[in-house]
Amino acid sequence: MKGIILAGGTATRLFPLTTTTSKQLLPIYDRQMIFYPLNVLIKAGIKEILIIVSPEHSGQFLNLLGSLFEKYGINIEFKVQPIPRGLADAFIVGEKFIGMDNVTMILGDNIFEDDFSDDISGFKSGAKVFAVKVPDPERSGVIVFDNNMRAIKIVEKPKDWISDYIIPGLYIYDNRVCNIAKTVKPSDRSELEIVDLHNWYLKRGELEVGMVKGAWLDAGTFDSLLEANIIVKEKNIYKHFDPLVDEAIKEFNIQLKELAKKRLS
Ligand code: G1P
Repeated sequence: MKGIILAGGTATRLFPLTTTTSKQLLPIYDRQMIFYPLNVLIKAGIKEILIIVSPEHSGQFLNLLGSLFEKYGINIEFKVQPIPRGLADAFIVGEKFIGMDNVTMILGDNIFEDDFSDDISGFKSGAKVFAVKVPDPERSGVIVFDNNMRAIKIVEKPKDWISDYIIPGLYIYDNRVCNIAKTVKPSDRSELEIVDLHNWYLKRGELEVGMVKGAWLDAGTFDSLLEANIIVKEKNIYKHFDPLVDEAIKEFNIQLKELAKKRLS
């Protein structure tokens, strides 16, 4: 299983914060946002991770994560996406990296309280996504269930209400996803929509939908960024990281402090 974190985009909803750094490098309590999705992948045992970044902030990502996990046998690669073309584009940009493997993609601004390690490590074929009930489904990819909670259809940001359930930014696909992504046509908003990939698997009866039990936060607006900080602290999400990730962050902090001392002396 390979892992992809999508951390590109211009995050205009967070201007002016995101003129000086990437959204995914903004703080969520005591660590950068990117560590939360990274932790989901590392916790699940993924050792090869591709981070897709925008050109303006690629150097900052490299400084933070370029060699942080090397000694733990976790390889992090970067790919610059000059123009964001939609989430499904990640499987075209990342085709070479994915190779013959299955892939889990997580959005760089999605924070989950749940542990998805079993879903990711136990994945065999088809696709697996998750559903969560929200008060504002029109902001996301919405999933409609029948009376037996079987998925019927998935629509990206529908104008009229169709369901309270949305699909957050954690997706597990088998290797076919790279070829399927190439067949997706740009939507009305000129993006290769991730829901088209979900629907491809759904039509063939190969889409599994799990339920999100804990908190899910999408830190893309000022209010949701603030809420993410509060909930991460209140629910102690930052305390339930994989020990390896915690150790890497701690060591990095020590190195930075030593460097700061040297500069002062
Ligand atoms: C994207 C996806 C949407 C998904 C959401 C989760 O929307 O297009 O299907 O539900 O992420 O965060 P965005 O928030 O990037 O507009």
